[in-house]
Amino acid sequence: MSSNKDFPRRVLSGVQPTGGLHLGNYLGAIKNFVPLQEKFQSLFCVVDLHAITVWQEPKELMSKKCEVAAAFIASGIDPKKSIVFNQSQVAEHLQLAWILNCVARMGWLNRMTQFKDKAGKNKENVSVGLFTYPVLMASDIMIYKATHVPVGEDQKQHLELARDIVQKFNNDFKKNVFPMPEPIIMKSAARIMSLRDGTKKMSKSDISEYSRIMLTDSDDEISKKIKKAKTDAMPLPNSLKELENMPEATNLLTIYAACEDENFELVFNRYQGKNFSELKKDLIDIVINKLSPIRDEMIKLTSDEDYLQKILQSGSLDAKKIATEVLKEVYDVVGLNFSS
Ligand code: TYM
Repeated sequence: MSSNKDFPRRVLSGVQPTGGLHLGNYLGAIKNFVPLQEKFQSLFCVVDLHAITVWQEPKELMSKKCEVAAAFIASGIDPKKSIVFNQSQVAEHLQLAWILNCVARMGWLNRMTQFKDKAGKNKENVSVGLFTYPVLMASDIMIYKATHVPVGEDQKQHLELARDIVQKFNNDFKKNVFPMPEPIIMKSAARIMSLRDGTKKMSKSDISEYSRIMLTDSDDEISKKIKKAKTDAMPLPNSLKELENMPEATNLLTIYAACEDENFELVFNRYQGKNFSELKKDLIDIVINKLSPIRDEMIKLTSDEDYLQKILQSGSLDAKKIATEVLKEVYDVVGLNFSS
């Protein structure tokens, strides 16, 4: 059985360069990467191989990758402390992914709700890559023997699949090769919801631009989007019980608390019984305060793509050093290596 005490603690997470990052990506994931790099060896990856499971315009892909790298750095990830790198430049992710494809079971992948959501009625016509995507994600984690994986709640099922793959691999080959990766999901901002519909998660693919705040939005856009955010006609309720049936109000309070690193209940107590306009007015200031320095830094960084590409390239070389060793061990265990 797997035991993590034999392994050094190591953090890995990834973000797709699919065109713009939103407040959900920031509060649910990237913001939480920053303190982890102080405690653990950390790797943060721009997962372009995941992005191409749906069509990406080749001419635009590099600048999208640079934008994710810029968001990492502008949010406080220090490329001197963490390995900031690009998935496709470390081919070992793909080599291990094939082996893991032979470990994972069809039934496990058939249960993935994100595939069902993304494929919808178009199941016969989506790429095979979209179906096997969670196996590549398991490989991203396992090729570094990562022990901790900070993600938003929408990635929880993929993490569970990665854990199943680790367990089966270690059992099949009767060796504790991989640690059991632990998800780190910040309860306070695990699922930031759409500003237009508090029952749907904030997402890049929503047709309404007013559903999400992008990290590159101007102060004016942030203000307009929060002003237009869906709310109830009544004031905020007086009890947390009543709030349970108010997903949009809960979402705005969640964003407030997460931006301020405050306790949700304390924030609720401050606004209970008040009009939404009061909450929105303060929330606009708080979100602008949080995002505008990140946006300004991102604009500065993305104006120098060479610099960002260099960081990704040098990070990829560092990542490759770890990945090569792990892949060699895996080849030995699976019986793929020559003896000399
Ligand atoms: P991606 O690129 O869709 O999202 C990046 C991170 O943002 C989180 N997130 C959210 N958190 C809270 N509220 C939301 N509305 C919201 N939307 C997105 C995601 O949970 C994620 O943490 N498969 C992954 C990328 C990946 C990965 C990995 C992650 C590939 N390999 C290995 C961890 C480890 C994805 O598509 O994330």
